[in-house]
Amino acid sequence: MDIKSIFENNKNWIAEKLETSPTYFDNLGEGQSPEILYIGCSDSRVTAEELMGANPGEVFVHRNIANMFISIDLNAMSVVNYAVNYLEVKHVVVCGHYGCGGVKAAMMSKDLGILNPWLRNIRDVYRLHMEELNAIQDEEKKYDRLIELNVQEQCVNLIKTADIQKAFRERGLLVHGWVFDVHTGRLIDLKIDFKGILEHIMKIYRLD
Ligand code: CO
Repeated sequence: MDIKSIFENNKNWIAEKLETSPTYFDNLGEGQSPEILYIGCSDSRVTAEELMGANPGEVFVHRNIANMFISIDLNAMSVVNYAVNYLEVKHVVVCGHYGCGGVKAAMMSKDLGILNPWLRNIRDVYRLHMEELNAIQDEEKKYDRLIELNVQEQCVNLIKTADIQKAFRERGLLVHGWVFDVHTGRLIDLKIDFKGILEHIMKIYRLD
């Protein structure tokens, strides 16, 4: 993509929107009330809104390397706090993707400098599920499975927070784990057992 074409594209996009709805930007300017918080990977192929068919105003988005949710990450914690308590989203989604470079990097025995502490969280997911992962002979299948388990563990990390626990109790907020298949374009619901996880981890992580 040529950087010079972006502003031209933007003009065309405005014209397209106004053609279908002359008040489009008046409505957009009035505020947002998205029902979904999406936490995904920064990977340029995994465009949050486009793969869901979502329009501006419908999804609150946070993206980082390998769709991580880590309790000392002030950025991610602030996003969840704002989305859950102020925007009152009904669903929080963690969306991973097959072919994730961040997960691939975490599987390598290599010093990656400043990326080490970030990727360590993915290595922790591997350690938690080492038995299952080491039983998979096919390297590609093992890689895919770690991507799925990483999504699941980031969902668990979300459920450990007071904001999510409170919103679930008070208004039935749900956490979902998805994977985007970059080879087919398909979005897959991992159907993580939200209530089962909640019940299990509340034995240790209950915050009130
Ligand atoms: Co990725």
